[in-house]
Amino acid sequence: MGAAGCSALRRSYNVPMERDIERILISRKCISERVSALADSIGETYGADSEGLVIVPILAGSVIFLADLIRCLPFKMKIGLMTVSSYRGKTTSAGESRLIQDLNLDIEDRHVLVVDDILDTGSTLRLVVGELRQRRPASVRICVLLRKRSKAPRDFSVDFVGFDIEDVFVVGYGLDYNDHYRNWPDIGVLKPELYE
Ligand code: IMP
Ligand code: MG
Repeated sequence: MGAAGCSALRRSYNVPMERDIERILISRKCISERVSALADSIGETYGADSEGLVIVPILAGSVIFLADLIRCLPFKMKIGLMTVSSYRGKTTSAGESRLIQDLNLDIEDRHVLVVDDILDTGSTLRLVVGELRQRRPASVRICVLLRKRSKAPRDFSVDFVGFDIEDVFVVGYGLDYNDHYRNWPDIGVLKPELYE
């Protein structure tokens, strides 16, 4: 059953998320269709190399995307978790990225696919890729659900992109503001008065 069918979404609560969302940027239906197309491209790219693939989701923003994506990938894989903090806290402007929890798997000679929610300035993924390359994987590719086209650095490319979006602060489908809204099923633009 999709989130649209959750009866809890139709009841009223004291702290509904809905009132904080200015507009829906990408609906859950669009996300679901795009995630399955992304999985097809990933499957085609890896082909026989999918054996021994290690997926490295960057926590916590990628959890919901990861859960949907890997269930569309029909081959065996391992999942190694990494947590990175980008010091956003109560502000939406990016700070320095810092590794909070390191990978718990050996990736030497393995093909690695990093999965993250969004490519903004690229500081998070640069840090992650730098850390992973030191462990001599066979390859490192990157899959992001969203990319802020105008801000993403030109010298840093990713292999799979769900959607290119405008430069707005978005929440939902795993993306947070101050650790809230990750469970909003669509991707929405947060009302600017909440963080300005
Ligand atoms: P970067 O390091 O500047 O590329 O930012 C990447 C990280 O910042 C992402 O993994 C997100 O956790 C967070 N981030 C960037 N833009 C947004 C946004 O619009 N909404 C929520 N989180 C964001
Ligand atoms: Mg993140």
